[in-house]
Amino acid sequence: MPGGDVACHGPAGQYAHVEADDAAGRARQRELVRRGYDAISLAYRSDDGQAASSSAEDVSRYRGWVAELAGLLPAGARVLDLGCGAGIPPTRELVAHGLQVIGVDFSAVQLRRARRLVPAASLVQADMTALHMRSASLDAVVSFYALIHVPLADQRALFPRIRAWLRPGGLFLAIVGARRWTGTERYLGADMFWDHQDTGTYLRWLEATGLAPVWHRYVPEGGSGHSLILARAC
Ligand SMILES: C[S@@+](CC[C@H](N)C(=O)[O-])C[C@H]1O[C@@H](n2cnc3c(N)ncnc32)[C@H](O)[C@@H]1O
Repeated sequence: MPGGDVACHGPAGQYAHVEADDAAGRARQRELVRRGYDAISLAYRSDDGQAASSSAEDVSRYRGWVAELAGLLPAGARVLDLGCGAGIPPTRELVAHGLQVIGVDFSAVQLRRARRLVPAASLVQADMTALHMRSASLDAVVSFYALIHVPLADQRALFPRIRAWLRPGGLFLAIVGARRWTGTERYLGADMFWDHQDTGTYLRWLEATGLAPVWHRYVPEGGSGHSLILARAC
């Protein structure tokens, strides 16, 4: 397994400078993703949680990731799931471990399904880039296959905010890119936008923002893959 301990530099305001590059363009990219998931919600994953297409991620993987995270958290810990989708997985798996889960997604269709399929979670329809949470109010933040749809400048601006929402020692577990790639393509019948950095860049960004990487793993998916990173707020 790749990864290892990385020094913690504490929360920093250094990303306040994040490029004010075309905020309107980034809003359009996010809107494309929101509309896309409204359109492909069921094509991405059916109500029983199975990937309805071979291009959606296999549900069984999430069980291990969530179990590992739950083992590191106190009973009843408060967990935010960014880009929860229809919640099946990962919101449902988090709830099954007795965690208090807040799921956030900006797709109305995904959120409506999540409310029906995971009624024990608190579910909020919101764009994660504009989300407000109380400081130090969370034990963990997770995000699976959602940050990869957020424009890079918005991702960078989000990391210090995630750090601030976590209590000291809180955990961040996320699927991010393994290699740099951005683009818009047809996906399950809708236009879809992706934007992600390579793993090393994510590790540096997290470390610099006060989220010290604990480990990172390559998650293979056919001919390509993503990175799963666990980081700790310090
Ligand atoms: C590939 S799905 C993943 C859903 C779920 N996390 C899973 O692993 O099955 C990505 C989800 O992220 C949501 N998403 C993408 N960008 C978002 C944003 N800026 N704010 C809120 N949700 C977002 C999409 O609506 C979609 O439901």
